[in-house]
Amino acid sequence: MRLLFSVVCLVLPSTLGFNAFSPVINHRSLIRKGDGGNFKPLQVGTVEPETIELKQNPHPLEEGVLKAFDRFASATKLALEDKRHIDELVTCFSYASRGRMLPDGGVVMGQGAVKRFLTDLLVTDHPNGSRRAEFSAPTIESDSIVTSEDVAVVKSSLQLRSAGETRHLDLELCISSGGAEGASGFEITSIAVAGADVGATSLRADARKNGPKWETHDGRVRQQIWQHTGLFDSGNRFIVDKLEISTGRIIAVIDANVWKLHGETLQTWADSLDLKLDTVIAPGNEDHKTMDNCLFMLDELKRLDPLRRSEPVLAIGGGVLTDVAGFACALWRRGVPWARVPTTLLGMVDASVGIKVAVNYHRKNGVGHFFSPTHTFVDAYFLGTLKRADVISGCGEIMKAALVHDRTLFDLMDEHGVRLVDKNFENDEVADEIIKRSVDTMLECIGVDLWEEALLRPMDFGHSFSRTLETDSTFYLRHGEAVAIDACMSTLIAEVKGYVTRAEADRVLDVYYRLGLPCMIKGVTADTFKRAARDIVVHRDGLLRAPLPRGIGSCVYEDVFTDGEIEAAFARLEGFMLKHPETCWDRSKSFSPVDTEDN
Ligand SMILES: NC(=O)c1ccc[n+]([C@@H]2O[C@H](COP(=O)([O-])OP(=O)(O)OC[C@H]3O[C@@H](n4cnc5c(N)ncnc54)[C@H](O)[C@@H]3O)[C@@H](O)[C@H]2O)c1
Ligand SMILES: [Zn+2]
Repeated sequence: MRLLFSVVCLVLPSTLGFNAFSPVINHRSLIRKGDGGNFKPLQVGTVEPETIELKQNPHPLEEGVLKAFDRFASATKLALEDKRHIDELVTCFSYASRGRMLPDGGVVMGQGAVKRFLTDLLVTDHPNGSRRAEFSAPTIESDSIVTSEDVAVVKSSLQLRSAGETRHLDLELCISSGGAEGASGFEITSIAVAGADVGATSLRADARKNGPKWETHDGRVRQQIWQHTGLFDSGNRFIVDKLEISTGRIIAVIDANVWKLHGETLQTWADSLDLKLDTVIAPGNEDHKTMDNCLFMLDELKRLDPLRRSEPVLAIGGGVLTDVAGFACALWRRGVPWARVPTTLLGMVDASVGIKVAVNYHRKNGVGHFFSPTHTFVDAYFLGTLKRADVISGCGEIMKAALVHDRTLFDLMDEHGVRLVDKNFENDEVADEIIKRSVDTMLECIGVDLWEEALLRPMDFGHSFSRTLETDSTFYLRHGEAVAIDACMSTLIAEVKGYVTRAEADRVLDVYYRLGLPCMIKGVTADTFKRAARDIVVHRDGLLRAPLPRGIGSCVYEDVFTDGEIEAAFARLEGFMLKHPETCWDRSKSFSPVDTEDN
């Protein structure tokens, strides 16, 4: 049995047990924005480890180790008061420190990883000050003391109390002499925690009561996706609370059409919360998914100068706006936090689920990054003002998800899609179900691999030929339209290859036609599809890896589309188009490139 070297005699006050530590914190006003504006001063504390009283002539090692522990306990409490102080907690740890969840969590290494580890453990999902930490008296494991190397293991338990829960954690800290400033030359080299479920890759739907509807978390980035109606109703604090806006202003990058249609509502909402709304108004539409638009946003960010961590940028708009704004946020200061409110159907079911951000440069989404927003807020309120063509474009992505992953979703679209397009997917239980199933599908398929390490990805269905089609049309084709044309052609290739029956393929084309989705582009030939198949091979690292439907609702991958298969599928599509010429897209069906005005 391990002997515990009790340090109770070293530590006063006598009320040992929980709450043994009462940190001494010096507060001072540190940051003020130059122009005053609406900023509130930020209090920054310094932690002084002065609460331990030691027995006479303690061993210097015990003294140093316990002071380092006390500093850790004080800094933990400070971080719970205000998350921004998590960094002060991290300075208790050595640069090469490690963190580990027991019994079987993986080891994280390095201060950055330890910061994420501690953030997960202590403060995630809790507004500032809503949690309290209570430490038990620390004990030093006697057989862990290596005096020649000045190392010891300290154990303590920590209760994290908040309104709804109390978590009990057992801590084991390895502390050694090292030179962390203010810790008597001692620093924590590792922390092991038992008793909480954090740190593992997780993907949770409806995981917690009152929690987000969906969540993506791969151990490094966490995005919470909330479904909430009336986000911008006067007096509604939902977004402000979730983003923990504490500076009195909110910076929003807003789609020009959304601003035109809903700007007054947004301004009234901000006024009702006494918030300064600082706006960047930028265009949507595929032809504006440009580097120029991104540079414009970067200039605007310079003008508005968001605090590096405490003023997340809120992107409000369609997939174009949120993709470009997210990319600008990824670039500004090498990354400032951001959140988004998708305002199109396509944005809600697809573009606002993953963590990809990009602009079209040389090719579709030619330049971009993976940069997760902290939050996504889905509010169907915005759907009411969408143009019909953009509602239909959103259906292009829904059908993609249905065809290779969710047969029920396909059946729902078959039965209700036309009716729902007519009512903009608004105020309808089936519409809500379709949106939910689409997001579920996206998360099931991409949530496990947000960084796209794997290249066999069902949600790439509809995205094999589409990139070339979009680039060729100089981006006047709506994205969902391009995906639809690709999906029809791919389904017919699947038929040629024997993965779907003729009856299934006919049913697919019929649903696309009834929804008003295009199946072909005027002037495009089988050669265009052959070239597009070659183009995508580079993107997929040298192999085609094309997802195809296997029946309706599941997926198979193919590395080869022969010229003969493409020609046979194209001939089938041409036959369908002759019967339904309205399914052929031409430039007259584009949004006008300058038409961001009329509705
Ligand atoms: N990041 C991803 O993972 C991902 C996934 C899928 C799609 N995307 C991208 O999303 C983009 C397509 O998004 P989209 O279909 O939303 O197009 P979009 O952003 O161009 O929006 C379509 C049109 O609707 C307008 N609009 C937006 N909200 C409105 C509202 N509430 N009322 C009226 N008009 C409104 C826009 O101004 C625009 O004119 C593509 O560039 C695509 O690559 C990204
Ligand atoms: Zn897409």
